[in-house]
Amino acid sequence: MKILVLHGPNLNLLGTREPEIYGGLTLDRINAELADLAAELGCRLTIVQSNSEGEIIDAIQAAMGTFQGILINPAGYTHTSVAIRDALAAAGLPVVEVHLSNIHKREEFRRHSYVAPVAVGQVCGFGADSYYLGMRALVSHIGKSRA
Ligand code: DQA
Repeated sequence: MKILVLHGPNLNLLGTREPEIYGGLTLDRINAELADLAAELGCRLTIVQSNSEGEIIDAIQAAMGTFQGILINPAGYTHTSVAIRDALAAAGLPVVEVHLSNIHKREEFRRHSYVAPVAVGQVCGFGADSYYLGMRALVSHIGKSRA
């Protein structure tokens, strides 16, 4: 099973970016833990971080026929990008949306996600654990839909 992990804009700054909100782990550390978890779950990961909406859309389009699911933290694009939502809908792969922070208890503009309606589900508010929980949920979902 191959999973595409997508990290959106500014997540390359994790570790120094507003640590009181996003925690102190770097993106490299989160990616290393995701790789360990993938090995435990028996799946292979490709991990992409981009600050560019177009690059994220290109990665989603390229996932069709190659990956069985997408784990995505769309970051700021969560709240703005119809185009990323459309790409995810077009790809037709199971998607799990994750956020480090609880977007529902922050500013009003963060409460709306364009991605949520095309995702299997959303995990938010658990820091880096949101990624690990989301990965487990995605792999479990794919396994059930294959059975
Ligand atoms: C975020 C939440 C978004 O609102 C914000 O723009 C981010 C990170 C999170 O992981 O908590 O960049 O997606």
